[in-house]
Amino acid sequence: MDKLQIQGGTRLDGDVRISGAKNAALPIIAAGLLQEGPVTIGNVPHLKDVTTMISLLARMGVSVTVGEKMQVEVDPGPIHDFVAPYELVKTMRASILVLGPLLARFGRATVSLPGGCAIGARPVNLHVEGLRAMGAEIEIEGGYIRAKASRLRGARLVLDTVTVTGTENLMMAATLAEGRTVIENAAREPEVVDLAHFLVKMGAQITGVGSDTLVIDGVDRLHGCSYDVLPDRIETGTYLVAGAITGGRVRARNTRPDHLDAVLAKLREAGAVVTTGADWVEVDMQGRRPRAVDIRTAPYPAFPTDMQAQFAALNCVAEGVGTVIETIFENRYMHMLELERLGADIRIEGHTAVIHGVPHLSGAPVMATDLRASASLVIAGLVAQGTTDVERIYHIDRGYECIEEKLSGLGAQIRRV
Ligand code: UD1
Repeated sequence: MDKLQIQGGTRLDGDVRISGAKNAALPIIAAGLLQEGPVTIGNVPHLKDVTTMISLLARMGVSVTVGEKMQVEVDPGPIHDFVAPYELVKTMRASILVLGPLLARFGRATVSLPGGCAIGARPVNLHVEGLRAMGAEIEIEGGYIRAKASRLRGARLVLDTVTVTGTENLMMAATLAEGRTVIENAAREPEVVDLAHFLVKMGAQITGVGSDTLVIDGVDRLHGCSYDVLPDRIETGTYLVAGAITGGRVRARNTRPDHLDAVLAKLREAGAVVTTGADWVEVDMQGRRPRAVDIRTAPYPAFPTDMQAQFAALNCVAEGVGTVIETIFENRYMHMLELERLGADIRIEGHTAVIHGVPHLSGAPVMATDLRASASLVIAGLVAQGTTDVERIYHIDRGYECIEEKLSGLGAQIRRV
């Protein structure tokens, strides 16, 4: 099985081009089910999760063509099957995103329940309750969500918890429902906003985009369009932290610095000089050791849970003591144990990790447990003395396009073996 081998100790210096956002591309491809198009989606990242979403639609009979530079064309015309099977859903929880579109456009959907994952219980009760409130008949049977509806009806939905894919599923479903749907306590993540822009381009009527109250007036049909996915803020943040941890300088290009306010604030607090332009952001540590920072994850625009592990790695070699509080996913601490294998000093108390920075880490074999955890191990490997082997990198291929090429371009000594 492939692993990433890193020789630590090189200071990163250079520019990196950011790919399209995985978490926007996935719902946008799923939303292709809603229209009578075809739609053409550009700036799609070449990632395992994207391939999984494409296979999921293709096995339903949807025509999906992938052109040069990952332009994805989706035409649901020939669809003949409305099932998301366990084999695919268990490899990618975001498969749940086909539930709303299938139900709204075709009146039926059978989607496997995702089950547990390495970062804790991740239920989909809010997706199901919201669709039921819109008139769907839903049974949970044999590990599957079996849903049907003649036409969904608009409803007022107040979400108990801020959920990203939950908001996306319900917003997509509401575009073709009869009447008005109001989603309160909606997620405001940039990826939710990007999906809303795509839906509007297909003819959906949505107001309140970017706020926590979305108002959707259902229409009879949606039409095709072309659309480019927004840049990946988490990939951007990951390369910036990689630069900072090595005391180096990294400029991320083709990105949106305005989606990274909370992350950039923490990098400044860590001692980095941060400069931004309309579509780039640069972090320069000027050879200094970072200072420890306190992190508390929460829904956007607060600090993202998907950047927690990378900042935990930064704190491991920083000056001082930093705390990391995870409020979204209760078990998202697996990387801490692997970081300890590299010599980090971490104490976990309930939902808080207290990290005492050490002068240096030393290379060791470590195992990736989930997508962002694996990014944190790679980042730590960049500063660890000697060789770090990161195993189970299929996790990293789910969410980072060409990570070893991009890091090598910044001067890192990293290869896939
Ligand atoms: C999405 C992102 C993921 C990110 C997460 C939080 C995608 C494909 N994935 O995941 O990268 O880490 O947002 O920003 O976009 N919850 C419920 N009931 C539900 C749904 C969620 O209780 O029906 C809870 C979850 O257990 C969790 C919290 O709500 O504690 C937030 O989860 P959610 O925003 O739904 O995460 P995902 O959409 O799965």
